[in-house]
Amino acid sequence: MRLTFATPDLKRPGAFVVFATDGGKLSASADKLDKASGGALKRALKNSKFKGRKGQTLVVLGPTGLKASRILLLGIGKVDKVDDLAAQSLGGAIFRSLGSSGDKTASVIVDTIKGVKLTGAEFAANVAYGCQLRSYRFDKYRTQEKPEDKPSLTSVAVMVKEVAGARRKFAPLGNIADGVFFTRDLVSEPANILYPISFAARLRALTKLGVKLRVLDEKQMKKLGMGALLGVGQGSANPSRIVAMEWNGAPKAKDKQPIAFVGKGVTFDTGGISIKPAGGMEDMKWDMAGAGVVSGLMHVLAARKAKVNAVGVVGLVENMPSSNAQRPGDVVKTMSGQTIEVINTDAEGRLVLADALWWCQKTFKPHTVIDLATLTGAIIVALGHHHAGMFVNNEKLSDQLIASGKGTGEALWRLPLGDAYDKQVRSQIADMKNVGGRDAGSITAAQILQRFIQKDVAWAHLDIAGVAWSNSDAGTVPRGGTGFGVRLLDRLVADHYEGK
Ligand code: BES
Ligand code: MN
Ligand code: ZN
Repeated sequence: MRLTFATPDLKRPGAFVVFATDGGKLSASADKLDKASGGALKRALKNSKFKGRKGQTLVVLGPTGLKASRILLLGIGKVDKVDDLAAQSLGGAIFRSLGSSGDKTASVIVDTIKGVKLTGAEFAANVAYGCQLRSYRFDKYRTQEKPEDKPSLTSVAVMVKEVAGARRKFAPLGNIADGVFFTRDLVSEPANILYPISFAARLRALTKLGVKLRVLDEKQMKKLGMGALLGVGQGSANPSRIVAMEWNGAPKAKDKQPIAFVGKGVTFDTGGISIKPAGGMEDMKWDMAGAGVVSGLMHVLAARKAKVNAVGVVGLVENMPSSNAQRPGDVVKTMSGQTIEVINTDAEGRLVLADALWWCQKTFKPHTVIDLATLTGAIIVALGHHHAGMFVNNEKLSDQLIASGKGTGEALWRLPLGDAYDKQVRSQIADMKNVGGRDAGSITAAQILQRFIQKDVAWAHLDIAGVAWSNSDAGTVPRGGTGFGVRLLDRLVADHYEGK
């Protein structure tokens, strides 16, 4: 979708979007359109339940006296509640209402509204950003779709007095949207197209933004002793890879030590020999969402030239059953030297991360490591689809992450770590086993990861199994791969890890 900013012009063709506040009070431009159309808006108001509540809409089709095809009146609710997130969800509501309306173009008029704390430029930029995020669609494999069945809206002009200011405010948001789309594309791809080697190849795109790539193949990983990651991939015809993406944007030498992001990239998870049931198994194409988010985040940081040294590491494997697959009961040796008894080959993400986390710390010496993984079904049982699970060994990092989640609408909920849980993964024959029984499944998984975190490293694990994919459209996120985590971690970096 094409997004532009312009000064207000009420004489354009196409759809118009104007706002009303709580109680149904029209904005100045809404008032003007009402007058120009002989009172069409106010007549419609009188005959509807529209009260200007946040996200509420009222449409007047073919208003007389105007070139406009329609007027969409959009409620913004209580003026003092309008912040950047609220403006973004208004942008989402605009695409929800007009995306398939038949109109190709829309003009959104952002007036100065008394009581709204955002400047006109901020309001306009955030509306545009939300609209952009909601317009995402993964349709590259729909070859027979008729043009009339595709979304009609291809161009949105956000009209505001402060055009230059709006463009300036939008620039970094546009970078974030690009990164979110990069992630959503990866997460949406089927596993016959996206497997470790093709995933690594896609990351080449990041080099254009100034990201340095390093790819480890199986031979190199074997030499490094990554028996856990390689064990997961050994049943697949698709060889495993690790990719590191480095963005060095810190201007000062004292900020050299990087922050690291590590993603689980299981490009398909059949469960292996502990095979999953057939129903819903297709969902396991997005078991690489953690890696997808890390990739999209690096895309954002590089595109907006973040003043930070950051490294993204993704562990890419396919978990398949075959004559060469690892068996329940196998014992694997990790790069760290610790051994793991593989009780269930479907608990593979922790095995992949054990080696990816260790290699990341050994290679890049980060002060902070944040991993993202669609790690456990148990986190969906606990939190549903409304929070990602967070496990963290550092109070400051915990506070920062919770705040960044609230600020971006990507909510986190902290769960505990502790010795009592750690005991659940003790093994009779190895240093640990890869499952800790039915109880507290997400926590025992996190305990295993923590065994691969070095002393003095601030660490957080985000279990995104419940939030990486959505089955319904909502706000700024259409159904499908959500990109959850990109916005949150970009905010974390911007607020706490960028040198000035
Ligand atoms: N990839 C799954 C977790 C998952 C489930 C992600 C549903 C997204 C949606 C993970 O590898 C897995 O299979 N976990 C097992 C662990 C169990 C064997 C201890 C699970 O959650 O059942
Ligand atoms: Mn699994
Ligand atoms: Zn998995």
